[in-house]
Amino acid sequence: MKPQVIAYCEVSADGKSTHRRHASSKPMMKFEDEAIRRYRHGLRARCDAILVGANTAKLDNPLLTVRDAMGPDPLRVVPSSRGDLPLDLNLLTDGGRTLIAVSEAAPDSHRSALRATGAEVLVAGTDRVDLPALLTQLGQRGVLSLMVEGGATILASLFRAGMVDRLIVQHLPVVFGGDDTPAMVGGPPLQNVDDAIPLSLVEVQRVGHHAVIVYERR
Ligand SMILES: NC(=O)c1ccc[n+]([C@@H]2O[C@H](COP(=O)([O-])OP(=O)(O)OC[C@H]3O[C@@H](n4cnc5c(N)ncnc54)[C@H](OP(=O)(O)O)[C@@H]3O)[C@@H](O)[C@H]2O)c1
Repeated sequence: MKPQVIAYCEVSADGKSTHRRHASSKPMMKFEDEAIRRYRHGLRARCDAILVGANTAKLDNPLLTVRDAMGPDPLRVVPSSRGDLPLDLNLLTDGGRTLIAVSEAAPDSHRSALRATGAEVLVAGTDRVDLPALLTQLGQRGVLSLMVEGGATILASLFRAGMVDRLIVQHLPVVFGGDDTPAMVGGPPLQNVDDAIPLSLVEVQRVGHHAVIVYERR
């Protein structure tokens, strides 16, 4: 059994997920109000696990804990094919529960260095982390709900594999612009518009000064 996957994306009003390519998304938080932080952290607290891609773990160095709401911290999950994450990341040093999913290509030295931080290391996939296999393993461990907080590359893989059940788009009331600035989902371009992933609109909500739009997979 696989967990329910909830993709949560914070974007500018023009749909950008950072203010420029290769930048951390953390500076975007200056455009958030307290209400949206409570909303996001409340959602984290209701999920069994929270996943970010390896680049997000490196660039943003997030905590992914519940600080602005009441509730337990979810298990933090990072797919990193070779397990080559910096060992001083907050996720690996703050004493919280973290699971790093690696592929068989991850050298033993990386696996043991990660384990030495207290993180759990799980193998799924040969060259790259096999996300469906990872979700199955998470489900077997009792993870029934998984929040995914980006970035664009991991979301592209999850969407293309048909594994995103719910998409929550949270807008910041600003425009970034930028031809090369990434949107919330990356990956290769569509060859045909019929390859678009169809969604159903569930809810449009105002939270503080933010629009929050909830979709489900059709
Ligand atoms: N606005 C927001 O809500 C938000 C949220 C999070 C992040 N961000 C921003 O997004 C940017 C990072 O996003 P990103 O697209 O560069 O990277 P990402 O999605 O965070 O991470 C992608 C990496 O995950 C690893 N991975 C392992 N297995 C994978 C698989 N099956 N499919 C895809 N990836 C797999 C790969 O690294 P390995 O090859 O090492 O395995 C891959 O390069 C940063 O600028 C960050 O600030 C924005």
